[in-house]
Amino acid sequence: MKFFVDTADTGDIAELAATGLIDGVTTNPSLIAKSGRPFADVVKEICEIVPGPVSAEVVATDYDGMISEGRKLAKIADNVAVKLPLTLEGLKACRTLSDDGTMVNVTLCFSANQALLAAKAGATFISPFIGRLDDINVDGVELIADIRQIYDNYLFDTEILAASIRTANHVKLSALAGADVATMPPSVIKGLVKHPLTDKGLETFLADAAKAGIKV
Ligand code: E4P
Repeated sequence: MKFFVDTADTGDIAELAATGLIDGVTTNPSLIAKSGRPFADVVKEICEIVPGPVSAEVVATDYDGMISEGRKLAKIADNVAVKLPLTLEGLKACRTLSDDGTMVNVTLCFSANQALLAAKAGATFISPFIGRLDDINVDGVELIADIRQIYDNYLFDTEILAASIRTANHVKLSALAGADVATMPPSVIKGLVKHPLTDKGLETFLADAAKAGIKV
């Protein structure tokens, strides 16, 4: 399973990239706005830190606008994945940009049928938002499992990118449901390593080593 970090904070991205655990980055207009920096500068810097796919989202909603913004974004770096909304115009733009050889991440997916359409439009990634579904009492992880089955039935190679992940449990359940990628805020990635028994065990080992004067 690939891990993407869901942020536009280049400090956090650099820190996590140094662990060797990060395969890509996702951003959205809200995250870029939060960074307080010019869009193209942030995307360029992120692409230099992480060699894997970096999703950058268009803000146009019509086909021509999405194509023009998408091509502009794709020129920033070879590893830009243009993020397009799951609308008919977005799917049409997805087909064109995918045929150009550009990676496309179709975002704001909330149903299996939407995911089927994105695969037919040649998307590189489909982003089901599991946290936002959970927020309205719909099982987001079940959606991941449904998409997995549909993509496997028809051998679509669109990658399932579990998005809107809020908890460590979302990561585990997405992995069990067969997501190809999970994108997570930095705090969730850092939280995955934590276990009280690991801390307790390490404390005991170090105390015993100190008592016995063990040196390695
Ligand atoms: C993914 O690409 C989105 O940027 C993100 O996961 C949305 O998460 P949120 O629902 O927590 O805003």
